[in-house]
Amino acid sequence: MTADNMRILITGGAGCLGSRLVEHYLPRGHEILVLDNFATGNREVVPDGIDGLTVVEGSIVDKALVDECFTDFQPTHVIHSAAAYKDPDDWASDAATNVTGSIHVARAAEATGVKRLINFQTALTYGRPDTVPIPVDAPLRPFTSYGISKTAGEQFMMMGKVPTVSLRLANIAGPRLAIGPIPTFYTRLKAGKPCFCSDTVRDFLDMTDFMSVMDIVLHDDAPTGIFNISTGEGKSIKNVFDAIAGYLNVDPGDVPIEPPGADDVPAVVLDPIETERVLGWSAKIDFEETIKRMLEWYDEHGVSAIHSHLKAGKTQVDG
Ligand SMILES: NC(=O)c1ccc[n+]([C@@H]2O[C@H](COP(=O)([O-])OP(=O)(O)OC[C@H]3O[C@@H](n4cnc5c(N)ncnc54)[C@H](O)[C@@H]3O)[C@@H](O)[C@H]2O)c1
Repeated sequence: MTADNMRILITGGAGCLGSRLVEHYLPRGHEILVLDNFATGNREVVPDGIDGLTVVEGSIVDKALVDECFTDFQPTHVIHSAAAYKDPDDWASDAATNVTGSIHVARAAEATGVKRLINFQTALTYGRPDTVPIPVDAPLRPFTSYGISKTAGEQFMMMGKVPTVSLRLANIAGPRLAIGPIPTFYTRLKAGKPCFCSDTVRDFLDMTDFMSVMDIVLHDDAPTGIFNISTGEGKSIKNVFDAIAGYLNVDPGDVPIEPPGADDVPAVVLDPIETERVLGWSAKIDFEETIKRMLEWYDEHGVSAIHSHLKAGKTQVDG
């Protein structure tokens, strides 16, 4: 159960997770302000004319704009979902958004008396882990521009005076997911195109389970700190491939298994045991069901479909 009548400022609210959060919280009667520069998000998922939703186009790198949004909207809760990652060689843009932008959000939240701040973190913060599943207190060894900048951003966020929760997230599967092995195999297998699987292991989490942990951490009495959000179950990319081929009822024959690339991490599986103990949360949807739900969504909407569950002029319960 979340607090009543939240005023939620969502940075990156037009992105995959952010837009789903808008669709989850708006129909429950909360007011929302989305601040997004549409670098990777989509305007269409946060349309104009929705009751209770304000959309501001702009960057969290712009301190004056961030301060203005906080001062005007007076959020009670902040969900920091904006992140830059588009070009792995563009270190300056990643640092500007993921470090400086995060600082602007944390400081503005302090200045305006925000009750709670939720940050999202990538598993790349652990770099190449010594143990898998990766415990939440494992050493941080990021080695990419995205991972390094997100690590610094999280550390600044955790230094602030606002009660803060940072969720280190598994690969979340849900509406509008358009990157990674699931949409790639779905599209290629349907088109009869050849595929290969990298010899890597990942963890996948259903969007419903992500929403259930959000409902917990947004509560004013919930514990603060850093949590791994995952099923804790590692699945190979070949497992993903087989599940999709089975769903589509195609026999692709032998599929090549390729060694992981030099900048890839062979196994990333987050250990949620501390999260289960402290938050009382655990994932409920298993791997097979997660994949099935995702593929049913693609059957209905297509891959890369920009589809909003929000309708202008009124709010509706999650579709
Ligand atoms: N989706 C996952 O499975 C996953 C896994 C681990 C971590 N995360 C984290 O969750 C968050 C959301 O990820 P997502 O999958 O929704 O990605 P996304 O790219 O769909 O969303 C990010 C949003 O941030 C916006 N943005 C980028 N730079 C901005 C800036 N300077 N100012 C304002 N807005 C800006 C983008 O336009 C986009 O709408 C990110 O912090 C990401 O690191 C996501």
